[in-house]
Amino acid sequence: MNGGIGEAVSRRDGPAKVTGGALYAADTPLAGALHAVIVPATRPRARIIAIDLAHAAAAPGVVAIFTHRNTPAFGPVTVVLAEDSLPPLQDDRVAYEGQPVALVVAETLEQATEAARLVSVSYRDEPFRADFLAEIEHAEPVPAFFGLPLDTAWGDVAAAWAEAEARIEGTYLTADRHHNPIEPAATLAVWRDGQLDVFDATQGVSEEREALAQALQLEPARIRIRNEFIGGGFGAKGWGLPHQLLAAMAARELERPVKLVLTRAQSYTAHGYQPATRQTVRLSARADGTLTGLSHDVVAAGSSIGTYIEAAGWETHALYATPSFSTSHRRVRLDRGSPSAMRAPFSGVGLVPVEIAMDELADELGLDPLELRLRNYAENEPGSGRPFSAKALRACYEEGAARFGWAGRAAAPRSMRDGRELVGYGMATAVRGEFRFPASARATIDRSGVVLVETGAHDVGQGLSTILPQIAADALAVPVDAVRLAIADTALPSVSFTGGSSTTMGAGSAVQAAAAALREKLAAAGANGPEGYAGALAALGVERLAAEGAWAPEEDPSAPALFSFGAVFAEVRVDPEIPVPRVSRVVGVYDAGRIINPRTARSQMTGGIIWGIGQALLERSEMDPGLGRFLAKNLSGYLVPVNADVPEIDARFVESFDGHASPLGARGIGELGAIGIGAAIANAVFHATGIRVREVPIRPEHLLGA
Ligand code: MOS
Repeated sequence: MNGGIGEAVSRRDGPAKVTGGALYAADTPLAGALHAVIVPATRPRARIIAIDLAHAAAAPGVVAIFTHRNTPAFGPVTVVLAEDSLPPLQDDRVAYEGQPVALVVAETLEQATEAARLVSVSYRDEPFRADFLAEIEHAEPVPAFFGLPLDTAWGDVAAAWAEAEARIEGTYLTADRHHNPIEPAATLAVWRDGQLDVFDATQGVSEEREALAQALQLEPARIRIRNEFIGGGFGAKGWGLPHQLLAAMAARELERPVKLVLTRAQSYTAHGYQPATRQTVRLSARADGTLTGLSHDVVAAGSSIGTYIEAAGWETHALYATPSFSTSHRRVRLDRGSPSAMRAPFSGVGLVPVEIAMDELADELGLDPLELRLRNYAENEPGSGRPFSAKALRACYEEGAARFGWAGRAAAPRSMRDGRELVGYGMATAVRGEFRFPASARATIDRSGVVLVETGAHDVGQGLSTILPQIAADALAVPVDAVRLAIADTALPSVSFTGGSSTTMGAGSAVQAAAAALREKLAAAGANGPEGYAGALAALGVERLAAEGAWAPEEDPSAPALFSFGAVFAEVRVDPEIPVPRVSRVVGVYDAGRIINPRTARSQMTGGIIWGIGQALLERSEMDPGLGRFLAKNLSGYLVPVNADVPEIDARFVESFDGHASPLGARGIGELGAIGIGAAIANAVFHATGIRVREVPIRPEHLLGA
């Protein structure tokens, strides 16, 4: 046991986090820092006609108030920003409730908070559209996003529909959901001698540096961004956000450190969110369950000022073999804050309707839901015919079904009971396309045998700071305890943002390359193995020796198709008199290539499954259509799963080595657990109650009469 790849090493960041030793961005001690507080717009769409600052400016401790009248112009930002077309405090337009309309800077947080309350803004209201379903006829096609073609088609779905022996057509709703990280976003900016030093709760120091360089028209080399710990990101901290620009601008203008921490209420307007969708699925099949056509049409909520589209159909084509297929994406631009990616964007949202529809087809044909999936198993990527890089979904189905006891499922809905409770079994497939980004790293060894690994990636709680030392330990054949780690800093070798389940493949492969390069250098200096490392440094006459490593994905369209998979089984219990659905058991078996650390990987899947319980049964941000605002301003108005909602979760992996995905053999796991589970629970609710709900979250009122 040296703590290398494959070992269940305990989380390295655990002790610091549970003892309060971990410093999050807002905890960074900053001598002489000013405090900045955002004044949010109270209207969804308006023009600002006047801002009365007299009372606020006269309040104790106030140093400056920025509005659109006195904020310097920001340069155009081309890197990903949640609000691409509305840099903050640049003009009199209000495009969503919560948008910053002023920034108050004072000596203390209390003074800034009080003065922000005294800023009086007069608006000329304009007609607004914020209600997604009411505005759905205004949807516009979005055929591509981030360079990804979203709309795929082959074969003739209309003909398949006309000739089908069995047909399912359904329209399904998913809700607006907020990320709700425990740590609110925070930006601390220090301007000194023409250099900008930023501590930020971000998932991407590199992108933030680029955004700030463009907005403030500074050389990137004059900006440093760092952030060692993150208290939950889920994508909320993966996108450039207005408060980051504002804090940096204020620090430069005032030439004093500025600390800007969003309030909990602002976490519902300034972080992005997962937008509501309405999705239509059509399945055409033969009587034996073989699919002849699948179409998946997505309409998602969007904003007037951002480009995010919930690409819920992007991965659907990879699910099942079908001779005809089509998907389309449309977006309704609304007067709301911009949505953004939230844990398991795309298929985490899109498989809810597709996998419920598959359950409906199984029910229609009297087929076991698992058998229906096996009859439509895709050996190669449907459409392209490319092989999958390494697909072990069949083994996931088999192992999951066996562990869950799926064979004990009575076929008919509403036929399983335990005392007064109705019991239902449901299952679903999970599929996720891989995002891969270039990454670089450095490994340095000193004469005492300590190895320092450095890379700009983040530990958002997923376990990166545990697995990177394992990877280096493996490559250098040293114990993991000899490896130290520095991450999440633009002063370190750069990595793309930590999101999209990409970081094990990216940063992990770069660390492996750096450590392997270091080992080669040591070997060249005479070290046959770890015993010889100190001698090699001595022979070279150096105290330490470093090597760099980098990795970038190959963009080869003829390469195998990269997807991760899973089979998810859920048991639900419903008391017919008080029909609150409760998840009582979940088994998820996943195929994500090689697992670097079974402990942190399992924890990721468990977290994802809990995320899915929220999606299926609890989470919904209510939009008030009259006010054009999300009603939730804290966790009392937004239900997330708590321990009482979380049952025994059996999450495991069928391992393979996927050398196409990364040199480590690993694919991404961060979001895979949050995929499929929503539909598995919804299908279990149907099996328990006989009531088909084509909407998540499923609420007790949907099940009245069960
Ligand atoms: Mo993620 S939603 O790419 O952090």
